[in-house]
Amino acid sequence: MMQVIMSSLAFQWPSLLHCWHGVSLNSVALMQNQITNAKEAIRWSTDYLLKAATATPDTLYVQVGDPNMDHRCWERPEDMDTPRNVYKITTQNPGSDVAAETAAALAAASIVFKESDPSYSTELLQTAMKVFDFADRHRGSYSDSLNSVVCPFYCSYSGYQDELLWGASWLHKASLNGSYLAYIQSNGHTMGSDNDDYSFSWDDKRPGTKILLSKEFLEKTTEEFQLYKSHSDNYICSLIPGTSSFQAQYTPGGLFYKATESNLQYVTSTTFLLLTYAKYLGSNRGVAKCGGATVTAESLVAQAKKQVDYILGDNPAKMSYMVGFGNMYPQHVHHRGSSVPSKNAHPNSISCNDGFQYLYSSSPNPNVLVGAIVGGPDNRDHFADDRNNYQQSEPATYINAPFVGALAFFSAEN
Ligand SMILES: *[C@@H]1O[C@H](CO)[C@@H](O)[C@H](O)[C@H]1NC(C)=O
Repeated sequence: MMQVIMSSLAFQWPSLLHCWHGVSLNSVALMQNQITNAKEAIRWSTDYLLKAATATPDTLYVQVGDPNMDHRCWERPEDMDTPRNVYKITTQNPGSDVAAETAAALAAASIVFKESDPSYSTELLQTAMKVFDFADRHRGSYSDSLNSVVCPFYCSYSGYQDELLWGASWLHKASLNGSYLAYIQSNGHTMGSDNDDYSFSWDDKRPGTKILLSKEFLEKTTEEFQLYKSHSDNYICSLIPGTSSFQAQYTPGGLFYKATESNLQYVTSTTFLLLTYAKYLGSNRGVAKCGGATVTAESLVAQAKKQVDYILGDNPAKMSYMVGFGNMYPQHVHHRGSSVPSKNAHPNSISCNDGFQYLYSSSPNPNVLVGAIVGGPDNRDHFADDRNNYQQSEPATYINAPFVGALAFFSAEN
């Protein structure tokens, strides 16, 4: 999916090159009229998820390829010859985490297509309901069912409770079917919503669920969801320096810092939630209550903008962490297709093992992975630009995806 988003955005980068030092809002405004591209990108992945969910009854296909074999291989996609095994979850080998997350994605996408393609929207929603039902009735973690091919790469460390509540929340929003409200009411407390952790990621859905449900309270004063407004406040306050419940970490240069590995994934997802909550608060003249103090929507937007600017080059290292954007960006991206010579330059195939010379080479990547955001700097704002330092140099769709949302917010503001 991200490849589609990146290519649809790629043509704009040359006109952005002059404004790498922070986000120039005029330039971000160039992102307008991307709705058709954005829908196409979403449909590409929902088509995939529909096939994965409907090919066989009571089965969800969840993975292609053996990560152990793939990690022992540094190869261009054109030469790929590692096993393409297909893995599934079933009633006997359940995976409530991956299934409920799939249901959430299908339900959310059904909202996107509600007006422009009602029959596709209905198909997405009905499939989401089925997949959620499957996730809920056959409980278990795919980390257990598919342990040897899922862990340690894509283990569900946060368990599956958070995804069940996330799935139910999106289905509630998409379907307006009362059974999901009832589900949230009776299961919400036990599904991790009482824990105010401050990370939102491909694995942990708790902060996102709280903010999604807080919208119900802010917009419709649904009393049952007042709880989620206070949970969201706690989460948001933990991110805002100067409030009594502040507990996040920032680098000296001002970057939100959560982990040594692929830290920017947390920056982009947190930024997306800051902006989403600011939007919900702003349209209801609400504020976040942090102890005795209040935090306005405007200050959440300002905090988010700092993170976006930092990623795009306004930081002590003067490095843009988005490849191909700005005067200085990562040259040694930990990415097979970007670091191995292209078919044009090297028509003969390059085997798994022969590819590793390109991983360990000190030369810049021959193919610029335009638009990708890498893992990012350490807690002192230092970035190694070393291909073998995957913690800092690896790009990921889960880093980019929430960032697109943040850019869309700033684009729409202007
Ligand atoms: C609401 O959802 C429940 C549970 O999936 C389902 O059994 C029921 O048919 C749905 N009702 C409507 C009106 O779609």
